[in-house]
Amino acid sequence: MLALHQNPDQDKKLRENPDLIPSMVSETIRWQTPLAYMRRSALVDVEIGGKTIRKGDKVAMWYISGNRDEEVIERPNDYIIDRERPRHHMSFGFGIHRCVGNRLAELQLKIIWEEILNRFPKIEVTGPPTFVNSSFVKGYEKLPVIIPTKL
Ligand code: HEM
Repeated sequence: MLALHQNPDQDKKLRENPDLIPSMVSETIRWQTPLAYMRRSALVDVEIGGKTIRKGDKVAMWYISGNRDEEVIERPNDYIIDRERPRHHMSFGFGIHRCVGNRLAELQLKIIWEEILNRFPKIEVTGPPTFVNSSFVKGYEKLPVIIPTKL
């Protein structure tokens, strides 16, 4: 809701073409990155980006940073709901522990947005959000909105 409010051109694009809901959902999950990081312990010595990580070292994987990597994602700071590869992001993690609920999360959000677009022609964000007090969960506690009309 907030991303679409901050990017009215993308909101217009979505309302004109609801087929974009699935890619908008993925782009929102990338752009927002609901979980900022996870941690792993290295099982072997490894070198990444010119740095040595020793066996046993604890490593924080900043999904939120990977999701804004300009070497991998074009215009990563921009919210673009019709990206070519919208599911190409780190928000669900990577590897053997990649979020087992990722498809369910996408499906739930797809259905919610289908219903929102069917019911509410406009939703106005009327104030700033309050954030969850956490470095791990990048979430919102409150976001005030007005729904002026219903279909
Ligand atoms: C947008 C919503 C969601 C986000 C951003 C998200 C994100 C994540 C992340 C970052 C991980 C850790 C990945 C890693 O350690 O590499 C994870 C793991 C997991 N998620 Fe999600 N998740 C979401 C929704 C869900 C839902 C709806 C379910 C269940 C119905 C779910 C179940 C799990 C489980 C069970 C794991 C642990 C997997 C494992 O350790 O093997 N998640 N999720």
